[in-house]
Amino acid sequence: MNCGIPVTKDTYWVGVNDRQTDLFESIWPLPRGVSYNAYLVADEKVALIDTVKNCYEADLIGKIQGILGKDRGVDYLIVNHMEPDHSGAIKVLKGFFPQMKIVGNAQTKEFLKSFYAVDDSDILVFKDGEGLDLGTHKLSFHLIPMVHWPETMVTFDWATGVAFTCDAFGGFGTLDGGIFDDEVDMGYYEGEILRYFSNIVGRYAPQVEKAIQKLKGLDYKIIAPSHGPIHRKNPNYIVEQYARWSRHETDCGAVIAFGSMYGNTQKVAEQVARALSAEGIEHIVLHDTSRSHPSFIVRDIWRYSGLVLAACTYNMILFPPVQTLVEHLKNKNMKNRILGVCASYSWSKGVALKALKELAASGGWELLEPQAEVKSSPTPEDLKLCDQLGKNLAQRLKACQSAAG
Ligand code: FEO
Repeated sequence: MNCGIPVTKDTYWVGVNDRQTDLFESIWPLPRGVSYNAYLVADEKVALIDTVKNCYEADLIGKIQGILGKDRGVDYLIVNHMEPDHSGAIKVLKGFFPQMKIVGNAQTKEFLKSFYAVDDSDILVFKDGEGLDLGTHKLSFHLIPMVHWPETMVTFDWATGVAFTCDAFGGFGTLDGGIFDDEVDMGYYEGEILRYFSNIVGRYAPQVEKAIQKLKGLDYKIIAPSHGPIHRKNPNYIVEQYARWSRHETDCGAVIAFGSMYGNTQKVAEQVARALSAEGIEHIVLHDTSRSHPSFIVRDIWRYSGLVLAACTYNMILFPPVQTLVEHLKNKNMKNRILGVCASYSWSKGVALKALKELAASGGWELLEPQAEVKSSPTPEDLKLCDQLGKNLAQRLKACQSAAG
């Protein structure tokens, strides 16, 4: 993809695919990379909507010049979001297009100065709902604070119905040829959109709900996020999925996340899984916390109502990979989960079990009985307790499913 790709009238995708970064924000694995989507609206005036991570500036500028030619420049850079995966090219772009004004809101201005020392005279500040006239294309700006940072906004083009939504509705994964929802395997991207949502934005779910309400006031035809595919065939589908996730609505299924040094706690986890399956639960995801990155576990927990945590004790604390997962879960403010816990120990009875039960209390989650606590390796009696826990969880999941209709 060495040139821009038309999205709709006068509007081009000029983003880049990052296949080099292993960890997004130096935390989240990118097994299949990530795209930074920037968009160019070439009207009487030319607006660039968002940029890309630094080190990809040449690619971005090459695409812009491929569309505009060498004699025309960018008049406005609209900054929907200041996180450097989108703002990283600002300094180089400003040097390349010196007449370019940088557009944002009052909070954007603060960040433009603190991140890139941009002069006041180069910044145009707009309030919520105000807009910019490019000629045929009239743009308006709609603040959606904390989706993902305080300054984040959506830019809406009234001529084409494109909503440029930045992080909202975006996901991990490069764009490998196709850039639209009708050109790609949305089954894969939906999983990566949920992983992005749950780990990056999910903590701010109430603000996401407000943002979606705001978006519903616009007659959008295309959802153009800053990561992942552009939704032109079925924009409402991804908006509705996002709305469900932000309301903490779940599917009928369970995640079992375990931490086990020598396989004894793994036996406990597998016994619960077997009981769930025997009771007819189809969606069961087992994660070894030592091997699955927490971002994948958090994503699956966001999807399903049921969660079982099974952990051994390590140096008189909760097994560290499980502790890490617990900290992530507390940070996300996830609601409406049904939790089962199992623990094992050899000489520190009660430590791991207490830590796991505290998670239920801190999240206001339902804590199921029984709670097996295994000494060293599970006895037949311990495994019976695990069976019972699986049965009880299955009953609760079925009850939730019936209540949801
Ligand atoms: Fe894609 Fe919050 O940055």
